[in-house]
Amino acid sequence: MNKKNYALGVFDSGLGGLTVVRELKRQLPKEDIVYFGDTARVPYGTKSAQSIVQFSEENVQFLLKHKVKIIVVACNSSSSFAISVLRKKFSLPVVGVIEPGAKKAIEVSKNKKVGVIATSATIQSGKYSKTIKRLSKKMKVVSQACPLLVPLVEEGWFEKKATFDIAKEYLLTIKKSGADVVILGCTHYPILKPVISRVLGRRVNLIDSAKEVACEVKAILKKHNLSQDKKRKGSCKVFVSDKPQHFKKLAKRFLGYNIGHIKKV
Ligand code: DGL
Repeated sequence: MNKKNYALGVFDSGLGGLTVVRELKRQLPKEDIVYFGDTARVPYGTKSAQSIVQFSEENVQFLLKHKVKIIVVACNSSSSFAISVLRKKFSLPVVGVIEPGAKKAIEVSKNKKVGVIATSATIQSGKYSKTIKRLSKKMKVVSQACPLLVPLVEEGWFEKKATFDIAKEYLLTIKKSGADVVILGCTHYPILKPVISRVLGRRVNLIDSAKEVACEVKAILKKHNLSQDKKRKGSCKVFVSDKPQHFKKLAKRFLGYNIGHIKKV
């Protein structure tokens, strides 16, 4: 089988990575997608580096059984700790969310001050901050872990007052810093864009890493001559490690439509 017909392999700790799937489908509608959500072991954002690396390797092993041509690490926590290990261990292209988000933030920021919000694991890794400074020495980075935002999104509390109040508290330092760009460094945060934007004001640019990673995937496929060139609508196969029904219910909130069959593995 021609590798162009292989699928995009995407994994996340759970369902948050569907924000990346949504963007991949928008930007690369002809491509098939195989998605694995590790719902049995979510959240990754509170786990150690060692566990996150181990889980990420296992997730890639699983995706490789399904004829994939690229691995998209939708999870920011995995991208923070596991990317270099995965690139060393596996021979296909591996794309994470950190570098595309960092590049976009540098491009967009006028005052050279960037805010990063993410899970505790991602912030502790310092990966966004290091990547931004490696790419542009002039940048100042203010980081903030926002661990309560993931459960709020999973509860469907997208627009509640409590969510606004918690976001306001978390974003205080970033707001004070005057950063004109903020990276939404967690799969769940694009869903909270309206709330975050209300807290920070409309002049602060929010970088959705899902959008940026889809652009990067498109560029890599083109570079490696792997883009699907048939006129077709791509499929999306979804696998989870636990509670497929629960996943299905929440998935509709993330994607805005029904995701179809979900298989537990
Ligand atoms: N997918 C995770 C991330 O982007 C958020 C959920 C979790 O903590 O597992 O960091």
